[in-house]
Amino acid sequence: MILSSTALGLLALASVSKAAPSSPTKNCIELLIPIPIKATNIEYDIPRVDSTIDEVNWAINVTTWSSSNYFDRIIRNKTIDQTFDIHTKLCIPAKANEKSPILQILTAGNGFDKRYWDAEVNPAKYNYIDAALSRGYSVLAYDKLGCGKSDKPNGYTDVQIPSEVEVLAGLTRLALSGKLIPPASRVPEIFKSFKPTKIVHVAHSYGSVLLQALLAKYGDTLTDGAILTGFFLSSQIGVNNVAHFDHDYPRAADPVRWAEYTSGYIVLSNKSTLQKLFFAKDGFEEKLLDYTEKIKQPETVGVYASEGTLQFAPAVGYTGPAMVSNSLTTAQYSPHKNALGVTVVLTNLFR
Ligand SMILES: *[C@@H]1O[C@H](CO)[C@@H](O)[C@H](O)[C@H]1NC(C)=O
Ligand SMILES: *[C@@H]1O[C@H](CO)[C@@H](O)[C@H](O)[C@H]1NC(C)=O
Repeated sequence: MILSSTALGLLALASVSKAAPSSPTKNCIELLIPIPIKATNIEYDIPRVDSTIDEVNWAINVTTWSSSNYFDRIIRNKTIDQTFDIHTKLCIPAKANEKSPILQILTAGNGFDKRYWDAEVNPAKYNYIDAALSRGYSVLAYDKLGCGKSDKPNGYTDVQIPSEVEVLAGLTRLALSGKLIPPASRVPEIFKSFKPTKIVHVAHSYGSVLLQALLAKYGDTLTDGAILTGFFLSSQIGVNNVAHFDHDYPRAADPVRWAEYTSGYIVLSNKSTLQKLFFAKDGFEEKLLDYTEKIKQPETVGVYASEGTLQFAPAVGYTGPAMVSNSLTTAQYSPHKNALGVTVVLTNLFR
């Protein structure tokens, strides 16, 4: 089980550092970057999700299925050898300093795009990008595959953990090569000539799952520092309890907002669902909950299905610094039985 806490994880990170200057200078561009990847995904025997009724059936099916027979679900491998358009936001401090060649690459959790790091509510307190910039770092936040303004390929076979790890790897390689910005782009020179000397990967929850997998696979080659928030390894890992929280079929929930999301995508239902997942009993700002509902994004059933591909092997090839940060949110809820009689904790591996 990987513990999780959206707002509180952010809060925890923000509060350990010194107070941010009142108006950090934003010097950002948004870019759609083609990322070629090669990954071995898997075609699984899982129920299809084409309606909210299907979603509930799917959630019960995968929650009541014990992870020990993960391999029974495998039909065949699916090689992904494709270029995906990934939407990013690159920010560089207006004034070069000794830290500006250090690029923090930010990966949000499941169901959230890069705006997770870029909160509009009380930014002095909650906006991670502002905080990093004001301390002199450069920042690259991106929408994961199938999320936000990035490509939304097949939600069963294409958006899975292995392909998501390769998207992060591909983006990191491109950044390290100094070729993040296509030469013909009409962007200020400061961005075109930007070539980081160091990469710090920062992630939340499911993003931390991807980062752990990246470190295990690529060791020191892509990462100089790692910050994993909302992430905790325990014996509960691999227990899929998605039925404990409510998702809808996106197009049924809002045909306009979620017009682009087809079969195999699901979205957290409403503010009550989000509150149960992310917010402590008391002491959170209601505006933050409204904002979370406003920026939430669909997820794929393929990501949940591919949980079994995770080995959580120690990242023995990674020798850089790592920081793991968790809030107390989950500790405040003791494990309890859900409607299905399955013992769960109120958070999930894939948040
Ligand atoms: C779950 O889904 C699988 C694959 O579609 C199916 O074989 C199985 O019968 C389902 N199990 C339940 C309990 O619905
Ligand atoms: C599927 O991919 C895995 C991981 O890359 C590999 O170990 C396995 O041999 C592949 N299976 C088949 C049938 O190709």
